[in-house]
Amino acid sequence: MAEHADHTAQPTTHPAYPVGLRLAGRRVVVLGGGQVAQRRLPALIAAGADITLISPSATPSVEAMAEAGEITWTKRRYEDGDLADAWYALVATTDPASNAAASAEAERTRTWCVRSDDAEAATAWTPATGRSEGVTVAVLTGHDPRRSATVRDAIVEGLRDGSIAAPQHRARTPFVALVGGGPGDPDLITVRGRRLLAEADVVIADRLGPRDLLDELPPHVEVIDAAKIPYGRFMAQEAINNALIEHAKAGRSVVRLKGGDPFVFGRGMEEAQALAVEGIACTVVPGISSSISVPGAAGIPVTHRGVAHEFTVVSGHVAPEDPRSLVDWASLAKLTGTLVILMGVDKIGKIAEALIAHGKNPETPLALVQEGTTASQRRVDATLATVAETVRTQEVRPPAVIVIGDVVAEGPDRLVM
Ligand SMILES: C[S@@+](CC[C@H](N)C(=O)[O-])C[C@H]1O[C@@H](n2cnc3c(N)ncnc32)[C@H](O)[C@@H]1O
Repeated sequence: MAEHADHTAQPTTHPAYPVGLRLAGRRVVVLGGGQVAQRRLPALIAAGADITLISPSATPSVEAMAEAGEITWTKRRYEDGDLADAWYALVATTDPASNAAASAEAERTRTWCVRSDDAEAATAWTPATGRSEGVTVAVLTGHDPRRSATVRDAIVEGLRDGSIAAPQHRARTPFVALVGGGPGDPDLITVRGRRLLAEADVVIADRLGPRDLLDELPPHVEVIDAAKIPYGRFMAQEAINNALIEHAKAGRSVVRLKGGDPFVFGRGMEEAQALAVEGIACTVVPGISSSISVPGAAGIPVTHRGVAHEFTVVSGHVAPEDPRSLVDWASLAKLTGTLVILMGVDKIGKIAEALIAHGKNPETPLALVQEGTTASQRRVDATLATVAETVRTQEVRPPAVIVIGDVVAEGPDRLVM
């Protein structure tokens, strides 16, 4: 775009006049289907513009936008008159003569025009933009696109993590959110999860998950350790549900911060249902589940081309012979893909025995990844036949994700995660 142009013309002395264009349903013409169009089109599409692309060729991504009906693609070079009725034009062909002719037409027809090859010849510049929950940030710094992007990133990041407050004039509506915090590394929570955390009055947190994020919360935020909620005549989970309901009813914004994803062995739905019974709506924010990310952090892909075409995630918290078990270990033993076991450290000896008894090769490689993605991460390798002994001698402790299958042997010798 204009900001990225490598031009030698004198910088204009007047600053640009910033404005937000409301392009929904309005004709926008894009000339050239290359990288510039690829980068700019998504925002124009999101703005609802009626976009015509004129270009003999396009990158595969731009082509896909045309196939999806998001833009209308006219496959030819620019011709005089193409900008008729356009409110806005993006001129980015590889042919300087076409670009010059198109911007001359834009000048004539009073169409605001951005040029990728000559910022000075353009009548509009594209700012570095970003969005966070209803706030659009647009930064122009004259001819320094990197600086624009850096300033934009700093502001958007600040809005997302709450370090820049953007209070709404409307009174803030209290919320209840079940937030998946990811496997433990504080960087592995979602942007939405982090923002809601920054807006919370009360955070009810599990042991697993990004505990470090709790340190960053301002002092007025009440942080409750879910494991320490007294449950008296209730089950622990009921006591947590009651705490959620009580704080929500008191008009507080409540984040229930959970490890991994709330709906992967996280009892998230029980909490959502308990709130629903009380007529309290809640937002569910997905999280990065340990079932995939913890093996990955230890260099184990849960699938790998030519090695595993499926992975199955199983809870190992009850032993195979236990009548409460809902897992069909005989069927799992027959699968050729990857088996990922959560909450299985205590029962892995029994589980391995059952898998072998149902026909799984005792030499099948296996890895236990303890406290994945944290500073204490540790990977211990074994086979189905040796795992019980290995867990004992190596003193493997929960939380750990156990991966069984040939993918354990994949991965480069050195993998920087
Ligand atoms: C109650 S389940 C919750 C799973 C969570 N909802 C998820 O999606 O990752 C807890 C189990 O997840 C696994 N786990 C969670 N975080 C882990 C981590 N950082 N390292 C290893 N295992 C982890 C362990 O198997 C642990 O026993």
